Amino acid sequence: MSLLMFRKGVPGRLLLRSKCLFVLFMTVCCTPPEDPIKCSTSNTINCTITNSYGAFPDRSICRARSVAYPTTEEELLSLVASATKNKSKIKVATRFSHSIPKLVCPNGQDGLLISTKYLNRVLKIDVEAMKMTVEAGVTLKELINEAAKAGMALPYAPYWWGLTIGGLLGTGAHGSTLWGKGSSVHDYVEGLRIVSPGGPAEGYVKVRVLNDGDEELNAAKVSLGVLGVISQVTLKLQPVFKRSITYISKNDSDLGDEAVSFGKKYEFADITWYPSQHKAVYRLDHRVPTNTSGDGLYDFIPFRSTPSLTLALIRTTEENQESSSDDGGKCLSAKLVTSTLLDSAYGLKNNGIIFTGYPVIGYQHRVQASGSCLEGFEDKRITACAWDPRVKGEFFHQTTFSIGLSSVKSFIQDVQKLVKLEPKALCGLELYNGILMRYVTASSAYLGKQQDGVDFDFTYYRSKDPMSPRLYEDVIEEIEQMAVIKYGALPHWGKNRNIVFDRVINKYKNAEKFLRIKKVYDPLGLFSSEWTDQILGLQGGLITLKEGCALEGLCICTEDIHCAPSKAYFCRPGKVFKDARVCTRLNSH
Ligand SMILES: Cc1cc2nc3c(=O)[nH]c(=O)nc-3n(C[C@H](O)[C@H](O)[C@H](O)COP(=O)(O)OP(=O)(O)OC[C@H]3O[C@@H](n4cnc5c(N)ncnc54)[C@H](O)[C@@H]3O)c2cc1C
Ligand SMILES: *[C@@H]1O[C@H](CO)[C@@H](O)[C@H](O)[C@H]1NC(C)=O
Ligand SMILES: *[C@@H]1O[C@H](CO)[C@@H](O)[C@H](O)[C@H]1NC(C)=O
Ligand SMILES: *[C@@H]1O[C@H](CO)[C@@H](O)[C@H](O)[C@H]1NC(C)=O
Ligand SMILES: *[C@@H]1O[C@H](CO)[C@@H](O)[C@H](O)[C@H]1NC(C)=O
Repeated sequence: MSLLMFRKGVPGRLLLRSKCLFVLFMTVCCTPPEDPIKCSTSNTINCTITNSYGAFPDRSICRARSVAYPTTEEELLSLVASATKNKSKIKVATRFSHSIPKLVCPNGQDGLLISTKYLNRVLKIDVEAMKMTVEAGVTLKELINEAAKAGMALPYAPYWWGLTIGGLLGTGAHGSTLWGKGSSVHDYVEGLRIVSPGGPAEGYVKVRVLNDGDEELNAAKVSLGVLGVISQVTLKLQPVFKRSITYISKNDSDLGDEAVSFGKKYEFADITWYPSQHKAVYRLDHRVPTNTSGDGLYDFIPFRSTPSLTLALIRTTEENQESSSDDGGKCLSAKLVTSTLLDSAYGLKNNGIIFTGYPVIGYQHRVQASGSCLEGFEDKRITACAWDPRVKGEFFHQTTFSIGLSSVKSFIQDVQKLVKLEPKALCGLELYNGILMRYVTASSAYLGKQQDGVDFDFTYYRSKDPMSPRLYEDVIEEIEQMAVIKYGALPHWGKNRNIVFDRVINKYKNAEKFLRIKKVYDPLGLFSSEWTDQILGLQGGLITLKEGCALEGLCICTEDIHCAPSKAYFCRPGKVFKDARVCTRLNSH
């Protein structure tokens, strides 16, 4: 069992009460996630694809006629050529399929999935130029580790290392900073190779080599997968460096004022906000000279393997709290979870083994990302990533959007007004470690961030039953609509419920340029689907009005039937943002 359990400073009573939570920290062994692609015939024909959570926002099952696993760019070329000749739909899939929206689904049943699972080699390391070229299926973990071996570091990246380079570019994934070239990995792309359909004269396939400065790179570096298959990526890196990390918890009364200035002060700043507890945890995180002593490690606790018994217990508790409307119970559980995480420094370890106090100082590649639940052997299901659909565990919605710096303060204050009206409403978010706030930066990518801002990440309970409403779902729905409509928020392309993507393309000033390039690269739209056409504004139908549609974020309610009137949830205006229409529980809480 983890040493954390016996760390000084955790009160005995807390220890006892939270016994089962501490089981959470055991790192026994792990079960890596299942392949998201399953085929009924010879492992390559008649397939389904899902994401790592086992469910898309609309819970549909995606099908494909076949899947192929190219191991070289040559094989990739012949696959794209053959599928183009057949006028077959094509989608790129990855080892884990970590995006929530239906980006990986080819249209209909007859598409081809091209998996990058075996396009996972490091091709070139150029220490002099500080550049590294990898195949698109390389995971962030491999990238970070291989770069470190050569004395190089990727300065800003997502915190979860299970993503592939192709996938994280596809959705514009990012870390947190307002410094340098910014927080998104795509802003460190120096060049890439992309394979798209070609005409008969070209043998039905075309490879384009894009370099820094090419207009088309601005389209290809955040492409939602609709331009073709990225086969190789060259990234600009930096010499290895160390960071010093300290978490400080404060009350949130001045969060609106602090949020922006804090991001300018610390290179790797982020904030974890617990609105119902009126607390914000600030991450004071900056570079230190490489000779500063310390060999810290960040093994983020929620990304560690968790025993399936613990997962089931936690889920059952939350299901019971939901069905008995036990908001007080949720708030108590939330306090326990968040204080436990903070007391254990969220998984930071000074010397790689144990947390002994702040600051934790360590090499970039050891603190920038984690995901130890992905490791291990495919045998027993004793432990897993908390959201592994094979075990009873976490099942959640994720609403993630960025708001321009100039509006951050009033957005935060609006959320605080909601908390004042409904003090227990956001405890449910805190159960999933609150609202993660990260700094994001304007990008030259056509589908990248349009201005510097703060990205807010909300994770919250999702029922296994799509017709079942959530406790205080009106409040989170109001925040979601407030962000998107009142504050013009931009979604993370790889997360979110469907409504956040409604007419979203109008918020990108270079959308036209992106669409023009898409037409050149893939005139027949073979890499497009109904879903990508809908979010790119090429086709309507993104919002489906039907019974209960608002419960899963498939629509904004306009009538009671879109909520759950039989369970006392009715469509009503928001409390702070009056233009919102949310599913509100009437008759007593
Ligand atoms: C636990 C967890 C933590 C996360 N943390 C962060 C975070 O800190 N910051 C952040 O920004 N995001 C984060 N995310 C979200 C994540 O960035 C996106 O979901 C990411 O895009 C998924 O990458 P993937 O490799 O799984 O790609 P997939 O989800 O499989 O694919 C994403 C899209 O890219 C396309 N694509 C993939 N490879 C290629 C290729 N070679 N060529 C062309 N198109 C391609 C796919 O077709 C699809 O459209 C997190 C997700 C999880 C599950
Ligand atoms: C495809 O698989 C489904 C089950 O996943 C099965 O019902 C169907 O008959 C299969 N079709 C073909 C053509 O093999
Ligand atoms: C194209 O069609 C042919 C004939 O139906 C088939 O054998 C081949 O596998 C298809 N190619 C791809 C990549 O789907
Ligand atoms: C929050 O902290 C500030 C000082 O940082 C203090 O002035 C203020 O009274 C506190 N607010 C609450 C509600 O505790
Ligand atoms: C680190 O190196 C610098 C010079 O490069 C030196 O001035 C400094 O004293 C060193 N610090 C430590 C802690 O060794």
